[in-house]
Amino acid sequence: MAHYPESFIEEVRERANLLDVVGRHVRLKKQGSNWLGLCPFHGEKTPSFSVRPDQGYFKCFGCGVGGDVFDFLVKIRGIAFADAVEEAAGSAGLPLPVMGQEEAGARQRREERQQLLAVVEKARLWFYHRLRAAEGAVARTYLQRRGLQESTIERFGLGYAPPGWRNLLDYFGGGAGGAQLLEKVGLAIPGEQRPGYDRFRERIVFPIRDYRGHCIGFGGRVLAQGEPKYINSPETPLYRKGEVLYGLDQAQAAIQREEQVIVVEGYLDLIALADRGIDPVVATLGTALTSAHLRQLWKRTRRICFCFDGDPAGRKAAWRALELVLDGLQADQHAHFLFLPDGQDPDDVVRREGAEGFRARMSGAAPLMAFFLRHLGEGLDTASPEGRVALLHRARPLLAKVGDPLLRELYLEHLSQYLHLPQSPPDGGGVVRLEPSSSYAAPTRSRLRQPVAAGRDFEQALLAMLLRFPELLLTWEEELSRLDLENPQLAALLSELLNLGAALTHGSAAPLWHRLPSAEWRAQAEAVLMTEEVQLESLQEEFAGCLLNCQLRHLNRQIDQKSREIASGSGDNARQFGMLLALKQEKRLLQQRKSQPLTGSAEG
Ligand code: UTP
Ligand code: MN
Repeated sequence: MAHYPESFIEEVRERANLLDVVGRHVRLKKQGSNWLGLCPFHGEKTPSFSVRPDQGYFKCFGCGVGGDVFDFLVKIRGIAFADAVEEAAGSAGLPLPVMGQEEAGARQRREERQQLLAVVEKARLWFYHRLRAAEGAVARTYLQRRGLQESTIERFGLGYAPPGWRNLLDYFGGGAGGAQLLEKVGLAIPGEQRPGYDRFRERIVFPIRDYRGHCIGFGGRVLAQGEPKYINSPETPLYRKGEVLYGLDQAQAAIQREEQVIVVEGYLDLIALADRGIDPVVATLGTALTSAHLRQLWKRTRRICFCFDGDPAGRKAAWRALELVLDGLQADQHAHFLFLPDGQDPDDVVRREGAEGFRARMSGAAPLMAFFLRHLGEGLDTASPEGRVALLHRARPLLAKVGDPLLRELYLEHLSQYLHLPQSPPDGGGVVRLEPSSSYAAPTRSRLRQPVAAGRDFEQALLAMLLRFPELLLTWEEELSRLDLENPQLAALLSELLNLGAALTHGSAAPLWHRLPSAEWRAQAEAVLMTEEVQLESLQEEFAGCLLNCQLRHLNRQIDQKSREIASGSGDNARQFGMLLALKQEKRLLQQRKSQPLTGSAEG
């Protein structure tokens, strides 16, 4: 049986989506940061089976079974551990490592990792106690001056590296053995010969922890002036820069609770925010955002707010983040960009404006599309045709990277609207047409006869058919009662007809419209009947076609309305987008129906 290296198992555990895996077997409902369902391991009527996707474990409070994604698979499938690893790796899209003589190497690496973690932990405690000892007074003063509460300093486990070249090395025994270990975890720098010297000297020390809280590296800030202002652990077997999100371990619960995460750049930005009760925050520590960062964030929430300086460097970093976010973006993933006033970072802002001030700014963060258009339009005159075309050319290839096809279409439509590009023919033009930039092919040749003539009023035609052939009211009652016509008079007439239709009896001699409750209604009906001819031949097809067109127009009106709301930035953007997507989905279904030949069902 395959024995996978611990590092691989670890990676699978981190990347596997526990919610997906469990969700295949248990129906789960969200409740706070938990997901609840009926336990699949013992019979129960009220849910006591709970899943914490952010922490990667499940637990049944009824029967006591619990564990991680592998335990779940082993139990539910009755498979061996290694098979569970393979299955979870498969669903997380991770290739299996080549097995063989590596086994021994894997165990060795696991043991080495444990050893290195122990070294880092020992060093962390040492820094921790230096800050709290007499020699740490100067560092404590510095932190107080920066306005941090005692409890915050505790929560982030801040420490202090006193001045001197060999403090930590001496603490590790002063010999070559200790020096070698400290070099491996990036805490000592080799000199001409061992023991070399300490990397962190006379600095505030920030322990960097992985998402489970293991300390894997450090950052260090000078106390006063000095270059460089910050130093960080180098790449080590424990610490991979492009993957670590500072603060993730302590932010996880808040990210779940608030269903969003804020990404900032610096240690003290994050700590200052946390100090004032803004908790769902992670920091990239001055390195550019990576796809590994994003993967970890999207796994935990559907909403990311990137926070940047308002200066050119901040804008540049924000744009890089946006490009990365667009790549493979899914419909339910919402990214926002918050730009702070020039030269200010989150630390400055929260100190000046308080938590409320910062949160207010957050709720005004630019949705991805807004920042996208603003940035791409820079230096272009979007009032001129040339400028608009140039913007379109810049935008297209970027939007092509969006993962979800509907979302992509939505963005393209938003872009067309922004540029005032024609999307559909002017009113009364008839068929609903997709804009040229759409990713969908226009409906193919339809068996439904295309509107008789350009300028045909589908709403009028629909009413005319109903008035002549009231049995259509019964056949299409459901669709008609949900239909919202643009012409208010026709809409009112339709609802009167539907009222009558409910009492409709076949074989009645007088035309239905004679029974309309007032002379006014009857005159209106007559007017409609006069303007529209109805051919008896292919009546059902004609009617279905008209109905579809009316429905599509109704949807288009709703979509326009929603897009305008989104463009104006009013209301809850994420929700608006969700509603817009639902509308678009509905529209797509209708369009599919329109391009399909009618089945027999409409004959009835
Ligand atoms: P900043 O220069 O914006 O510093 O760097 P800051 O976070 O505002 O720090 P304070 O408020 O002056 O103490 C942002 C982040 O970039 C990384 C650090 O992670 C820092 O938090 N950085 C910065 C470095 O790695 N090295 C540096 O020399 C400077
Ligand atoms: Mn700062």
